Amino acid sequence: MAQDDNSGKDLAAANSSSHDLLPVDTGTGVVSPDAVENPGHPEHRQRVTDLNPKKEKQAERTVFILFFLSAVGSLWAVAAYMMFPIDGQMELVRSNNLFIGLGATLALMALGIGAVHWGKALMADHESVDHRHPVRGTDETRARAIEIFEEANEESGFGRRSLIRNSLIGALVVFPLPAVALFRGLAPYDEDPVELLHHTMWKKGTRLARDPSGAPIKASDVTLGSAFHVIPEDLNDAKDVLNEKAKAIVLLMRLKPEDLNELPERKNWSYNGIVAYSKVCTHVGCPVALYEQQTHHLLCPCHQSQFDVANHATVIFGPAARPLPQLPITVDDEGYLVAQSDFHEPVGPSFWERH
Ligand code: FES
Repeated sequence: MAQDDNSGKDLAAANSSSHDLLPVDTGTGVVSPDAVENPGHPEHRQRVTDLNPKKEKQAERTVFILFFLSAVGSLWAVAAYMMFPIDGQMELVRSNNLFIGLGATLALMALGIGAVHWGKALMADHESVDHRHPVRGTDETRARAIEIFEEANEESGFGRRSLIRNSLIGALVVFPLPAVALFRGLAPYDEDPVELLHHTMWKKGTRLARDPSGAPIKASDVTLGSAFHVIPEDLNDAKDVLNEKAKAIVLLMRLKPEDLNELPERKNWSYNGIVAYSKVCTHVGCPVALYEQQTHHLLCPCHQSQFDVANHATVIFGPAARPLPQLPITVDDEGYLVAQSDFHEPVGPSFWERH
């Protein structure tokens, strides 16, 4: 590679005026006795790709292969996302994570190594000195900046080496695809996500069952002060058990009926002091799992929101913005606790479509 004339001059100037670079006391103008002589730059050594056109071509092909591999990695990640859908089976979840991870790793690594190899083996590598100057450059400096851009374009071969340039552009265009596919997967393909957030699988007559055994709960099992982690009895019949469970989990508690301060429109939503509330925190959705029976407070361990069960689970502390939704319950002919209906409002964190 040819050396830049200006840079060569700059370098010579910098080496010959190395005393200017020694630390000088600004008060006395004396050079500090601890000053170390500026050793200057070592002599420039040309690379094998500068000397041998065959090696240069070989390096160009290597960079092309690496950018090509990066594109393959990105497409591989998208293919893996489609081949191993996350549908609750642990094997598929593992394969999904493994193959998406491998694809994304290949895409990133090959892109990075290709860029570094391009820079080290093919772009100009001569040393140059850039002296400090006022922040706003003169018109000549600005004109020189444009020249530098043009030189950089010439020296990197960005405009000239169309094979590398186009493969880099191709790799960068394909690179965001895995992210697009992954974010798209957050919303279901065949159902309205807003509708899904509005409903859980609770319906009139569904028995309340213990989590995780699925054993139905009788009202007589719920003693004063106790709390149960609850799922719908027919949870295992659901098409998507994990997602349905995530929305339908409930906490069941029994208080003295006289301690319950129920809203007028919810007078018949409890049974003999037994109340059921969504276990999904209305802040960002952690399970609200800590019940303090003396104070009737429910605590969310994530950010310490507290809900007062005696007062329709209203928020008394923390970042949650609204009370926990209440599940209306009663008992069936055999004394088992059953839901009267679904929740009357969406469970979990507030979202933009919420009414
Ligand atoms: S998720 Fe419950 S307080 Fe943040």
